[in-house]
Amino acid sequence: MAGEYVIELERVDKSFGDQVVLEGVNLSIKSGTTLVIVGASGQGKSVLLKHMLGLMRPDRGVVRVLGCDLATCSRKELNEVRRQFGVLFQNVALFDSMTVFDNVALPLRERTGLSESAIRTQVMDKLKLMGVDSAAQKFPAQISGGMQKRVGLARALVIDPQIVFFDEPTTGLDVHKSNEIYRLFYRAQAELGYTAVIVSHDVPKIFKLADEVALLADRQIQGPLSPEEFQVSTNRHISSFVESTMGSIYTSELEE
Ligand SMILES: Nc1ncnc2c1ncn2[C@@H]1O[C@H](COP(=O)(O)OP(=O)(O)OP(=O)(O)O)[C@@H](O)[C@H]1O
Ligand SMILES: [Mg+2]
Repeated sequence: MAGEYVIELERVDKSFGDQVVLEGVNLSIKSGTTLVIVGASGQGKSVLLKHMLGLMRPDRGVVRVLGCDLATCSRKELNEVRRQFGVLFQNVALFDSMTVFDNVALPLRERTGLSESAIRTQVMDKLKLMGVDSAAQKFPAQISGGMQKRVGLARALVIDPQIVFFDEPTTGLDVHKSNEIYRLFYRAQAELGYTAVIVSHDVPKIFKLADEVALLADRQIQGPLSPEEFQVSTNRHISSFVESTMGSIYTSELEE
């Protein structure tokens, strides 16, 4: 699938009542790349992700994921596609009553018929990749917020997904911990080769991870462009976004 588009949105419209959130959105994401979606709060970034996940339906237009048109494919095909997803949202939502190990094992137990010993190998591999293997037998309340995020990341990746969706994955972490999470993403992607769609406010830091950056503004997608092109773009939406986030460039440099 290298070089193929794994996600394609064509002329997608979405409204809630009279509030138009997406209007004629076109977006194609290539296999194995990382797309970062940025935009002011309330512009519809999460709504856009939910369309890709098949959790929301467009009013008009087409959403195609791994070659499957989400509106017309069968339930079986849709489930097949969803099996290839790893998802990490803002609120990690680990299960408090389960150990770290069992939390990460859950997708394997639910979605595969793997033996317990195969599950153990896969879970411990991912916990090691995230540097939290020593916490396998702890409960979420016994580990730090940063470690919880890493466990969430291990859980999102444990099935070796083809596509991962991250919506604000570093919310609530300080700059140092966020950087650590981004470094882990980077390493995990190099190792596992998935396509990543990341919604983030962490501009421009997140650009280091991105192959391409797209801006959601005024109901439409601007770009995607390479991070370098994005930062000097003369597109009025993009240049005004870049200007308004210059403040955080200085802040993040100071904090480093
Ligand atoms: N299920 C829903 N029903 C009605 N309105 C919704 C629904 N989901 C989202 N919206 C509206 O759509 C708009 C876009 O919401 P969305 O959550 O996608 O924004 P966002 O860009 O992710 O913002 P943030 O950066 O704050 O997370 C908001 O005005 C929101 O109130
Ligand atoms: Mg959101």
